[in-house]
Amino acid sequence: MSKTKKSSIGNFNTLFNNNTSIKTKKTSKPSKPSKPSKPSKTLKTSKQSKSSKLSKPSKYISKLKNISIDYLQKIYNLDVYKNTIASFYTLNNPIITYLVSYNDKESKNLIKNGISNLKLVSAYKLSNIEDTFKMIDISYKLNKNLLKDLKVKKCPQIVQYASEDFTRGIRVFLDARYKHLPINLSNGFVKLWEILHTFNLLAKNNTNTNNNNSFKVFHIAEAPGQMILCAKYYAEKKHPYITDYDWRANSLNPFNYEVKTKFGALRDDYKLIRNNPHKWLWGADNTGDITRVKNIKWFKNYINTKWLNNKIDNKIDNKIDNNLDNNKIDLMIGDGGLGTDTNSIYNLQKLDLAQVINVVACSSIGGACVIKHFTSYMIDKPETIEATSFFISFIYLYYICFEEVNLFKPYTSDATSGEFYVIGKGFKGIENNELEKLYTILNNFKVNYALFPKNALPDTFINQINNFLELMSSYNIKGYEKQNLLLKCYKETKEMKNSSKNSSKNSSKNSVKINTIIDCDKYLNEDKLKDILIPRYNQWIKINEFE
Ligand SMILES: C[S@@+](CC[C@H](N)C(=O)[O-])C[C@H]1O[C@@H](n2cnc3c(N)ncnc32)[C@H](O)[C@@H]1O
Repeated sequence: MSKTKKSSIGNFNTLFNNNTSIKTKKTSKPSKPSKPSKPSKTLKTSKQSKSSKLSKPSKYISKLKNISIDYLQKIYNLDVYKNTIASFYTLNNPIITYLVSYNDKESKNLIKNGISNLKLVSAYKLSNIEDTFKMIDISYKLNKNLLKDLKVKKCPQIVQYASEDFTRGIRVFLDARYKHLPINLSNGFVKLWEILHTFNLLAKNNTNTNNNNSFKVFHIAEAPGQMILCAKYYAEKKHPYITDYDWRANSLNPFNYEVKTKFGALRDDYKLIRNNPHKWLWGADNTGDITRVKNIKWFKNYINTKWLNNKIDNKIDNKIDNNLDNNKIDLMIGDGGLGTDTNSIYNLQKLDLAQVINVVACSSIGGACVIKHFTSYMIDKPETIEATSFFISFIYLYYICFEEVNLFKPYTSDATSGEFYVIGKGFKGIENNELEKLYTILNNFKVNYALFPKNALPDTFINQINNFLELMSSYNIKGYEKQNLLLKCYKETKEMKNSSKNSSKNSSKNSVKINTIIDCDKYLNEDKLKDILIPRYNQWIKINEFE
């Protein structure tokens, strides 16, 4: 997999270098004979230290802006096609990054004092990861251009079906094959199944001697609620000793006037709200909005006094308060999301930030979490190119508050999206004064702001997150490449059909004829496509023990 990814990125670097030589011609400077480019070396250069002249990101990015789409299409070469075709067949691991805690003096000290270093500060630069983000732009722009060529706004259905692979395909397949499922599955259901299984999140600690067979789950930002159904079903199927399964859930309240006016109509698709009114928590103002501090305080109070029946004693902080094994929240699940086209960067980032603050406010000691987040750069919102320090710093909050943190992009998550999940295990607890600091940060948050100053983050941590962001970017690029390849196939096939009627002069002007390299019909014919997809789905079922 890494080989494939590298060569794709390498290809884009080649592309960038070639473009530089084109620009030189335009400005009529004497052109040097262009050297054959070496993709992997170029990639390395873009990641070199800040002092390297070759890797100045601003120049690099401004040059990228000048690349013409026509030119891009012409050099979108054979190598990319071959690598992309291989990815239709391979089932490599999805992205899993296990965050490691290092014991060197600097890392140890910074992690130990982590929370006390909390401070809302304006965005700062941590690395050249932005160069990699910009490469997603290129494949995205190609995608838009191909759609424009085809005179369509959305991908043709067959291209969508073939390229999105597990994203929606598997749930349709599972629905058709298994008749005993609790409901028609959504993508949220299969994603959560994959996560619960991969990280064994419902297994109780074997050392527990209290005969504890209860399991409590608090879902945030969860309507309409497929993940509620999934977690419960998973517990029944895989952990039958859990006899006392209990859940509560929150989301924007679809029946609240303010929510309806601000966010539009939300629906109670599975009647989970109507049928379980006492299990849904809408907070102090009945909106359910988790970005409001008064609501977070309300949830925390409800959990301690009503759900867990813990006596609130102001002298005892929540480090002790929540620590009874049979009387704790075992798992928090958050799936917060808002449309990027209709919401501001502020709202989107605040939702990410609010989810992590809700987790540290409401988790019990030893508890786990599964929370959806997005990588910081949003293609349609250019200012987010400066959001890396915001991103790294809110992941750092998980890192210092949980014994173990993993970043995971499931097979079943859309390959072209920045969506991924943070899986935390073993919540360490937080003091009330520290929580108050976080509430102040949430109330004063500004776009792209970071939660920790630069010198509060260990290099050992930053390096790990940079690597994760690179993996995610390559994965996104690969997702677009798959679609782009099939769009070209689709276009050529259409043209060929027409040209068989109107002689062959109608063919595409772009250099490589895709139908001469790959058998497009294999990927654009639904029946033939099943020969590729179904064995992959069966393998997913095996790996994730869905039977
Ligand atoms: C992707 S949907 C969740 C889908 C759900 N996991 C399922 O499988 O059915 C995202 C949810 O986040 C909720 N949400 C967005 N912003 C929120 C906020 N500020 N407070 C609470 N919920 C929020 C939306 O109302 C929506 O229900």
